[in-house]
Formats: sequence, C-alpha cells, structure tokens
Amino acid sequence: MSEDIAALRREIGRIRGSIAHLRAMGIDYVRRGHPATPVSAEKVAPATVQEAAPVAAEPAAPPAKPAKKSATKAPKAPEAPAPVAAAAAGESLDDIRADIGDCTRCKLHTTRTQIVFHDGGMGARVAFVGEGPGKDEDLQGVPFVGRAGKLLTDIIEKGMGIPRAEVYICNVVKCRPTENLAFTKDRAPEPDEVEACSGFLKRQLRVVRPEVIVTLGNPATKFLLDTKEGITRLRGSWHKWEGIDVMPTFHPAYVLRNPPSKREVWADIQLVMDKLGIERPAR
Ligand code: URA
Repeated sequence: MSEDIAALRREIGRIRGSIAHLRAMGIDYVRRGHPATPVSAEKVAPATVQEAAPVAAEPAAPPAKPAKKSATKAPKAPEAPAPVAAAAAGESLDDIRADIGDCTRCKLHTTRTQIVFHDGGMGARVAFVGEGPGKDEDLQGVPFVGRAGKLLTDIIEKGMGIPRAEVYICNVVKCRPTENLAFTKDRAPEPDEVEACSGFLKRQLRVVRPEVIVTLGNPATKFLLDTKEGITRLRGSWHKWEGIDVMPTFHPAYVLRNPPSKREVWADIQLVMDKLGIERPAR
C-alpha cells in the first residue's frame, strides 16, 4: 500500500478520534464553516479544527454567595485538594491539570522537580501509559524523554510510522521519587502513591479516549487492568479498560536491559497497528 494511503488512513483515524471525543462530551452535531472556536486549549489535529468549531462554552458557574459573618471566628479549615477520580462530563485535559495543581497528595511531591502531566493531546488514536517519570522527565516536565523514552519514540515513529506528537503519553504517577531511584528498575510506584495519583490518569484517558491504550510494564498494566497477573502473561493479547482496547507490553526500560524482549514488543506493537489499520512503514 502506498504511503499516501497510509497517511490518509492516519488522517481518518485522527478525525475519528476527535469525533469520538466530541460524542463523549455529548456533542453529535457540528455546523460546517462556523468560525473556529477551540474545543479546549489542548492541541487539536488541524484537520479537526474546522469541524469542531461551534462547541458551546461551558456555562459559567453562578457566583458563590458570600458567607454570613459569624460573631466568633471559626478556625480556618485546611484546604481540601480537588477530587481526584471524579471526571466531570465535558472536562478537558486543562481542567485535570488545574485540579492537580501544585500537588502534595503523596510523598513524591517532596522529591520531584516538577509534575510530569503528559505529552500529546486530543485526537490521539493510541495512548502509551508508563509508571512514572525518571530523572530526565522530572527535569524536562515531559514523559518518556530519557533513554527509555528515546526507545519508545523510535517504536512510535520508526516502528509504527506515526509522529510522536500524534500519540498520547502519560504515567500512572506524575512525580519522580528520590534522586538515585528510578521507576521500572529500583522502585515501582508504591500503593499510596498510586492511590493518590491514578485517578488523574483515568480522567486523562477518559478525556482523550484513544482507540487503543498500550500499557508499558507491570505497574501500568496491573493498575489499569486491575489484576495481579504479570506482564509476561498478559502481553500479546487484547484486554479492555472502560470499553477501550488495551495491549500490555514490556516497558522500554526493560527492553534496554533485556534486548531480546524487543521482539515481543514489536509483535505486540504490530497487533496494535493491525487494530488501528496502520500499515507497516516501508523500510
Ligand atoms: N519510565 C516511565 O515509566 N515513564 C516515563 O515517563 C519515563 C520512564
């Protein structure tokens, strides 16, 4: 099949992704040729901007009533962090990021440089979910930019033939542990950290609603599929999360340490490409 047709298929996929997202927000009608109003501040594939034009802005919340003054001053209650797991209909990735704020919900906030929220945005047909940021990610604020990230980028761009900017990448936890520990090798995210953070991941995935989620390694797979089964057993076959197809595969950091596992990862990625109707790029 020619590269033109493969590019067309990718374009159709992106448009389908945007339509699915609009539907998920309860919008099933858009007028053509309406002056463009962005759906959210998130990246939207250019082809979808014209189609996604007349999305009504969320009605502004009524102004809060001023509290009645009481004679005795009550002690100020500590500010409760925004709820993690509840995903409001029509929320955007920006809303989720705003809810995370300058998070102190778990101990990882004491060791991070910055929160690593995601890479990519709306319209992605495939999402990759890792464990948590490492040193490079912590410094740059972007997931999968270190050595494992370079391998993941190669898998996406050279293997699947799609630009990294067109997929969605995120992690189970958004902050890095201490200076000399790395997720995937020395330390998996701990239960209290996953508990505090993972609701945001679910909300991100509900908003992006890709056609396929690829879970990278044990923590992401066990968390999303809610299983104790290990990655070696789960990889290579399809699973579901909230109606979305999930393909577990080995984490790229594991592949770097065990080069023969690259073959299995490539086999899993080919299943993903088949599911998305993506032809193997010419080599
Ligand atoms: N490993 C992960 O699981 N996530 C990253 O973002 C980087 C490395």
